[in-house]
Amino acid sequence: MSLTTFTNCAELTDWCAAPVQRVASDRFLWQVSIEFVYIWLYSKFVFLVNFVQNHAMNTIFHRTELADSLAERLLNPGALDVALRSGLFLRGMRRTGKSTFLRHDFIPALEARGAVVVYVDLWQDPSRSPATLVHQAIRDTVDELARPESRLLKKLRAVTDLDASAFGVGFGLSLEKIGEPEGPTLAQALTRLVDRAEGDVVLIIDEVQHALGTEPGRDLLFALKAARDAVNLRPDTPGLLLFVGTGSHRALVGELTEQRSQAFAGARTMDFPLLGQDYVGDLLSRLKGLRLSDGRVMPLPSPDVALEAFATVGHRPEDLLQAFDLLRNRLDTNSETLDDPDIHLPTIAATLRASAVDVELAKLDRMGALASALFARLVVDEQDDGRGARGFFGEDSLQSLSESLGRAVSSDDVTAALRAMTSENLVMRLGHGRYGIADPVVRELSRERHERLESLRQSTSLDG
Ligand SMILES: Nc1ncnc2c1ncn2[C@@H]1O[C@H](COP(=O)(O)OP(=O)(O)OP(=O)(O)O)[C@@H](O)[C@H]1O
Ligand SMILES: [Mg+2]
Repeated sequence: MSLTTFTNCAELTDWCAAPVQRVASDRFLWQVSIEFVYIWLYSKFVFLVNFVQNHAMNTIFHRTELADSLAERLLNPGALDVALRSGLFLRGMRRTGKSTFLRHDFIPALEARGAVVVYVDLWQDPSRSPATLVHQAIRDTVDELARPESRLLKKLRAVTDLDASAFGVGFGLSLEKIGEPEGPTLAQALTRLVDRAEGDVVLIIDEVQHALGTEPGRDLLFALKAARDAVNLRPDTPGLLLFVGTGSHRALVGELTEQRSQAFAGARTMDFPLLGQDYVGDLLSRLKGLRLSDGRVMPLPSPDVALEAFATVGHRPEDLLQAFDLLRNRLDTNSETLDDPDIHLPTIAATLRASAVDVELAKLDRMGALASALFARLVVDEQDDGRGARGFFGEDSLQSLSESLGRAVSSDDVTAALRAMTSENLVMRLGHGRYGIADPVVRELSRERHERLESLRQSTSLDG
């Protein structure tokens, strides 16, 4: 048997374990086979390291308790939670895991309790109107329930008597043209869905704030409110129509429920609970045993330092993972005596936070001097009450902008610059003439930089 006849590694290993006598008679082959086994074992080791690494990096940390308690409060509210019947709106910063929580924990928790969930993300395709996206989501859910073999139907059938035929021909309403003059209204479609489901239907709108920016979006919210009332106010309704919305902008999401003129006035707003200690602890335990490229086990930071780093990067899982990746690179290149992760991780996290902010601020440079000047005013003027700053269009403001830019600035110029910053998601419109910096981390760091610069200026002018 020659080396080329091996078809897999197991055969090779068997061969290596063959009687010493045969091996001794062929010293050259013995040496080659040892090297072969070594390479094979090494490749398995590298595969395992990569597997553990990718697994640790990609695995979702489930928040089952939070999902169960929210689902329970929504579907079976106690006396203090009756406002949830009007809607539940979760607000949280960008990239902090809202959609992941909805998809991987909250929707399964609702379905496990027999609720039919319609999920739509208004950011999934900004070129389509919010209403079109909601109509599509309703159609998709009904289509899926109409397939007897669908995963969703099987799951719901574990706790309900749902039948696929009730959503196929038995649905009795063509959903092709919801919202169009010749088709059913949104209220009719959702009422029929509750009737066929014979239970609660939960409509989840991710990034619901995008419906606030336009007239058709606001119309959609009022149409949904009309549908909610049409279903829930029936004395003999077999189920309720419930709304859950999420959004990344505190003030806008708050406005949805707090202003009397809004469709969901009176509904409940909650801060999306940020991932914290248990997420970081879970990640650390999954990273345990990772090796650096020279084979050493990678030293990990203490849980407190890792948690602090997570807070520095704004409780964003992606940024924490990137910080760990950079930490590994640094430890890879350092000698053993310098590899204290508790010292490196905070610096890495602070650098990441600063560079994430710089990426955002680089957009300003491309927008020109007026945008930069308006942003600088926001940094100074915006308060922490979530109401933003105002007064950009007054005579004084236009005059001071003209002076600092050395050219005439009109209110149209200001409108165009604010609009450009809004569409880049740097700035958010918070009401008539009111604007705020969209990302709290950007706001915080810009403010810190401004304050440092001011104190430097003061100290140098004092010295002078
Ligand atoms: N529970 C979790 N476990 C592991 N990773 C998570 C978890 N939650 C979020 N992430 C990761 O964080 C990133 C952002 O998550 P997600 O898109 O859910 O946030 P979001 O708040 O909905 O963001 P956006 O504001 O852009 O809509 C994703 O890469 C996701 O995989
Ligand atoms: Mg999201």
